[in-house]
Amino acid sequence: MDNSTRLQYLEAMGIDVWVSRKQKPVEESQLIDKTDFSIEEQVANSQLDSIEDSWDLLQKQVSECKKCILSETRGQTVFGKGNVNADWMLIGEAPNKQGEMEGNPFTGQSGYLLTEMIRAMGLQREDVYITNIVKCRPPEDKDPNTNELTSCHGYLLQQIALVNPKIILAVGRIAAHSLLATKQPLAELRGVAHQVNDIPVVVVYHPAYLLRSLLEKRKAWQDLQFAIKIYQEEK
Ligand code: URA
Ligand code: SF4
Repeated sequence: MDNSTRLQYLEAMGIDVWVSRKQKPVEESQLIDKTDFSIEEQVANSQLDSIEDSWDLLQKQVSECKKCILSETRGQTVFGKGNVNADWMLIGEAPNKQGEMEGNPFTGQSGYLLTEMIRAMGLQREDVYITNIVKCRPPEDKDPNTNELTSCHGYLLQQIALVNPKIILAVGRIAAHSLLATKQPLAELRGVAHQVNDIPVVVVYHPAYLLRSLLEKRKAWQDLQFAIKIYQEEK
């Protein structure tokens, strides 16, 4: 994501200054006045604070959100979980019943399989940041409709801006369609490096689908290998 886009999202959240935590620390030789180190330190700390604050603010906005009709039936919102400085961001569809109860994305059986997919890539669940396109559970776990998807999209874009991952996995058809603004079949979206705000996006099968169709697990592994290849090219 380029800096101007990131700034746009962060400014919308009332954040004036943006410094990625991944940004290399300022070299000592670059400091204007080396004796001013404490001031530099203070500035750096205040920037870190503003990132913490922006996460808190965003999470609060989501928890109180009434932008779409799902707010009328939800129990609690499911914001997202994981490493806020992650290289990998995984985006699913919407919380299900169990996720809503626990307040976490990808719980239960599909969560277990997602964790296996993450481990297959040599990562732990805590290493990545996981969220959904839609933060409230649709009644009867129906697919979120277009209005719900678009109402919630701004929150996701802000989460992407804050994490600033090196790669995004769109988990399943709904997430892929919403994130990439396309209706192309999943089979055509797989194996291609898409982009959202200059960040590569790889589409993978949803674990819930894989649970129904174990033969597709091999394709899932191919998708993950493809994602690893794209990630390594990005690094
Ligand atoms: N749970 C989630 O949080 N997201 C999904 O897409 C499916 C189950
Ligand atoms: Fe707000 Fe998103 Fe929940 Fe709709 S789904 S009420 S937009 S948080």
